[in-house]
Amino acid sequence: MKRELVVVIDFGGQYNQLVARRVRECNVYCEIYSYKTPLKKILARKPKGIILTGGPNSVYEEDAATCGKELFETGIPVLGLCYGAQLMSHVLGGEVKRAKNREYGKTETIFDTKSPLFYGLPDKGIVWMSHFDYISRLAPGFRDVAHTASTPVAAAENEEKKLYAIQFHPEVLHTENGTRMLYNFVRGICGCSGDWKMDSFVETAIKDIRKKVGDGKVLCALSGGVDSSVAAVLLSRAVGKQLTCVFVDHGLLRKNEGDEVEAVFGPNGPYELNFIRVNAAKRYYGKLAGVEDPEEKRKIIGEEFIRIFEEEAKKIGTVDYLVQGTIYPDVVESGLGGESAVIKSHHNVGGLPDYVDFKEIIEPLRDLFKDEVRKAGLELGIPEYLVFRQPFPGPGLGIRIVGEVNADKVRIVQDADYIYREEIDKAVREYREACGKDPSWKPNQYFAALSNMRSVGVMGDERTYDYAVVLRAVNTIDFMTAEAADLPWEVLQKVMSRIINEVRGVNRVVYDLTSKPPGTIELE
Ligand code: XMP
Repeated sequence: MKRELVVVIDFGGQYNQLVARRVRECNVYCEIYSYKTPLKKILARKPKGIILTGGPNSVYEEDAATCGKELFETGIPVLGLCYGAQLMSHVLGGEVKRAKNREYGKTETIFDTKSPLFYGLPDKGIVWMSHFDYISRLAPGFRDVAHTASTPVAAAENEEKKLYAIQFHPEVLHTENGTRMLYNFVRGICGCSGDWKMDSFVETAIKDIRKKVGDGKVLCALSGGVDSSVAAVLLSRAVGKQLTCVFVDHGLLRKNEGDEVEAVFGPNGPYELNFIRVNAAKRYYGKLAGVEDPEEKRKIIGEEFIRIFEEEAKKIGTVDYLVQGTIYPDVVESGLGGESAVIKSHHNVGGLPDYVDFKEIIEPLRDLFKDEVRKAGLELGIPEYLVFRQPFPGPGLGIRIVGEVNADKVRIVQDADYIYREEIDKAVREYREACGKDPSWKPNQYFAALSNMRSVGVMGDERTYDYAVVLRAVNTIDFMTAEAADLPWEVLQKVMSRIINEVRGVNRVVYDLTSKPPGTIELE
């Protein structure tokens, strides 16, 4: 597909993917490349603009990530952010120095709204700063277009050469009008028309898949998660009954989830495809009996999945294509930057089945960020509750039950988790109805887990000796770091009381306050 492109050059900053996501929110397609990528290769992609990200280095360090002067001499507009801004100044003859104090956090900034970067914005606003070094002298041909109380050059430009430098982070939501500044760059300065839209993505993807697959047979492992669901529907729209989806219900799914997946993708659902559900709960519980070690459990769950998938594939016979739900962050994180195929294993543990005979892998979502996968899902008419599902690990409740897994523990954690999610969803809905927006405490991921601890309690007049359920709720941007959500006390109270009253085998409920790091989000 021919589309306008902006290239984001990654200098190792923590927000590199966020920059790319914000650009795409401006309806401009963009790709991330390492700063080590030869300029020739980047130019061959014919970008309409280039953005340099932040990074952990200082430009004057000996082995700092850097770029050549040629990058600024191609006539293509370049925007440097934070380290990228300092690098641009340094390479073009300005000066960057170490400040006495780090400037960090929300900072009031004055803008020159005559700069095309800040067109249409108020001349004062809050931005997100995070830097030690600062631009102490502008490179020749540049003028400063924003400043703060302690940073003389918060932004600079050389309008004639279409070079722009921003010391702060417009990609971070704390920066007021940050996306608008990026919009001004990609849509205004670079002149992109905004041709990256999910409806045209879906349409083109369907055409491309049809062309590629012809009358071939396609096999897809469906987990019920967002990525594999969207990939499956896209394929079904493209090739209908040539697609077979295998859904392995390992008995470690959330309450009712197996039936929900079947209702959507099965024979009574709206899609044309061959759907095979394998009810493998007993088989899994058998394999997991007596196993306490978390890694061992993950391995068993992953391997068993592959074995079952292979068995089903053998029944189908030779297939031509295997569908993978790889998405763009997987491509970026693997460091392959669009160079070769990435193979994402269903459970992130076991890898791909060895004995499934196929010609090629199809990865229809490999250019999309998660929020774009969701938009594509809505575009394809997939129900909202599926599209906005929380992340759910491949090994499922197997890693939310500390210690040995068995049917009774699965029942407990399923029922407790159902109540917990129901109450949080209700509280969020009520808040939204009353205030017209989501509450600030709304977690990105929340679930109940089962500790391996039994303790004494009293119910009625009787002593109990039962399990403790752990409630987890985190706020996170990227799931690499996270903080416990500040859930309202009355919601926690209600959940506790319902779980104790409604779920047999539980006499204690605890709320997990641990951040990540040092904790992980899942318990195992
Ligand atoms: P942790 O526990 O590593 O979780 O802090 C970070 C995010 O990843 C999810 N997670 C997994 N997802 N397979 C997956 O597909 C896994 O084995 C797995 N382990 C953790 C977790 O739910 C959280 O969103």
